[in-house]
Amino acid sequence: MRVIRCKDYHDMSRKAANIISAQVILKPDAILGLATGSSPIGTYQQLIDWYKKGDIDFSQVHTYNLDEYRGLTYEDPQSYHYFMRKNFFDSVNIDLANTHVPDGADSDIEHACTSYDAMVKAAGYVDLQLLGIGRNGHIGFNEPDEVFSKGTHCVDLTPSTIEANSRLFDSPDQVPRQAYTMGIQTIMHARRIILVASGTEKAQAVKDMIYGPVTPKVPASILQLHTNCTVVADAAALSLCPNS
Ligand code: F6R
Repeated sequence: MRVIRCKDYHDMSRKAANIISAQVILKPDAILGLATGSSPIGTYQQLIDWYKKGDIDFSQVHTYNLDEYRGLTYEDPQSYHYFMRKNFFDSVNIDLANTHVPDGADSDIEHACTSYDAMVKAAGYVDLQLLGIGRNGHIGFNEPDEVFSKGTHCVDLTPSTIEANSRLFDSPDQVPRQAYTMGIQTIMHARRIILVASGTEKAQAVKDMIYGPVTPKVPASILQLHTNCTVVADAAALSLCPNS
């Protein structure tokens, strides 16, 4: 696991965007795995800026997002479909037909999960997976557990995740209680992983991810076993990791 120490959120976002940009320049039809949340927004903004300057072309890129709230349609402003269009897809020349997010409106859990897995597998898995990390060490919506998950599945969100995500809703009661998420095994199939982390509230999770035991109780710790994983984190997120 490689760690890139950044000054602040802006520096982290530019460095992560640089790595993604290099991937798309080297392989114009790259398959990107994408995340939502506050952590990657600056990365998307930087990629949009470079697209507008003519430096990156997303016309052949395909994307697979990690997760979606169960029960929200793609038009729902709180859905991750909507988030991706607003924060990235609508501002670059990506073909929306090449973008994929689990279908939160599919109430058939088995169908929603197996069809998403089948699509990611048929695509040959992703070239570069962008991840954030939850305060409890989750990646995607793979919450702390007794075992590592495999494929896409439906999860009950933990109280800490509901509380953390309630900042984006009018009240915690409105946060959906379940989500569809790619599993750990699918994430580990990515040929390259970039995890962005910013802020002191992530410091313990980042320390546990990098230095702790590999355990499903800290889902991100599995990334220690990935052969091409880079953590791009700011000084605050690395404040409990003096050696990195
Ligand atoms: C969202 C996702 C989550 C977030 C995590 C951190 O697609 O995969 O694992 O990355 O909850 O969220 P933020 O960045 O909002 O702190």
